[in-house]
Amino acid sequence: MRTQVVIIGSGPSGLLLGQLLTGAGIDNVILDRVGKDYILGRVRAGVLEQGTVDLMCRAGADARLIAEGLVHDGFSIAFEGRDHRIDLAGLTGKHVTIYGQTEITRDLMAAREAADTLTLYEVEDVALHGFDTESPYVTYVKNGVIGRIDCDVVAGCDGFHGISRRSVPASAMRTFERAYPFGWLGVLAEVAPVSDELIYANHERGFALCSMRSATRSRYYVQVPADEQVDAWSDDRFWDELRSRLPRHHAEAVTTGPSFEKSIAPLRSFVAEPLRFGRLFLVGDAAHIVPPTGAKGLNLAASDVHYLFEGLREFFLDKSSAGIAAYSGRALARVWKAVRFSWWMTTLLHRFPDSTDFEHRIQEAELDYLTHSQAAAAALAENYVGLPY
Ligand code: APR
Ligand code: PHB
Repeated sequence: MRTQVVIIGSGPSGLLLGQLLTGAGIDNVILDRVGKDYILGRVRAGVLEQGTVDLMCRAGADARLIAEGLVHDGFSIAFEGRDHRIDLAGLTGKHVTIYGQTEITRDLMAAREAADTLTLYEVEDVALHGFDTESPYVTYVKNGVIGRIDCDVVAGCDGFHGISRRSVPASAMRTFERAYPFGWLGVLAEVAPVSDELIYANHERGFALCSMRSATRSRYYVQVPADEQVDAWSDDRFWDELRSRLPRHHAEAVTTGPSFEKSIAPLRSFVAEPLRFGRLFLVGDAAHIVPPTGAKGLNLAASDVHYLFEGLREFFLDKSSAGIAAYSGRALARVWKAVRFSWWMTTLLHRFPDSTDFEHRIQEAELDYLTHSQAAAAALAENYVGLPY
């Protein structure tokens, strides 16, 4: 088989890139190690920057997002028993849209099927070959049979644990990493959210976040130690812990109910550089991870896709290599700003097990500054709604 672009990974990065390429008349095939249902069973964050919404529109997959997404003009930071609203709309003229990543993936899969573009699910042993030449190819095993796809370009959209980044010789890549000494225990429940807007809480027992998927479905998180076991958390224990970390008026308003998803995610910052190796391009989680505190993971994947799509469009339609040559530099400049912002939000809002009294006072001073200085709040808001592409 031959195509122009082989996309490894059918997460939001791969699907969004595939949809944009198909729209521009550029042939592509997606390969994924797992099946559709498995991918749609993964629960991830749900705050979209306008740039991400615009790309969904360009991909022709935004109808449900526009109809069902919740537009949020602000969010709260809670500490010392009080709430402080960050007025995103007032400070930036922009807003964010609450819409689960699982739904983004579902909508993109439906658009891909409607366009009749090939995706091979449940393929094993995906291997990349010759991406340092002008004729790379990808091999895989499907139902026990070896397949080969020849192409011009390979897009590595296969997440943090994928094969693409690991196919690059270590000497050609530099990586940067920070692991945080805690994780997030997250719960999904079919209950009305405690507030119309998100609440990020800094509390002496640890960070908590009140988020949502819809007017009837809530997503809540509490900070837990890095080695915590999810089995140790009954629903009752979770609800008690969440309420203990919120200002009283919110704690009293929390509607509890049975959880239908409960999991612990580690927090990590990671960047691989560069993002291009000959004809292989790394995109999204395959190249970088941010802690979820700033809600940037999916949005960064989307901005990578934007830069790569523009580059590939120029490459295939205008016969110019300028855009693909610029991809890594353009994408990384935006990635690092989001890595900085996510690290900063994480540092501001969590309790670090080894923090000193000095660091604690600095955190208090920073929260106080943020809630009393319009300039400080504007800097937070500008990053939260998303820096320009
Ligand atoms: N071969 C083929 N497919 C693979 C392989 C492999 N060796 N390894 C991983 N994959 C597939 C996974 O099964 C998954 O479906 O690649 C896909 C990667 O998807 P994601 O992990 O969702 O990564 P990405 O599309 O970059 O998504 C961006 O935004 O909110 C963040 O971290 C969150 O996943 C999210 C990200
Ligand atoms: C979520 O709704 O899952 C969510 C929202 C905001 C974040 C992280 C996760 O910062």
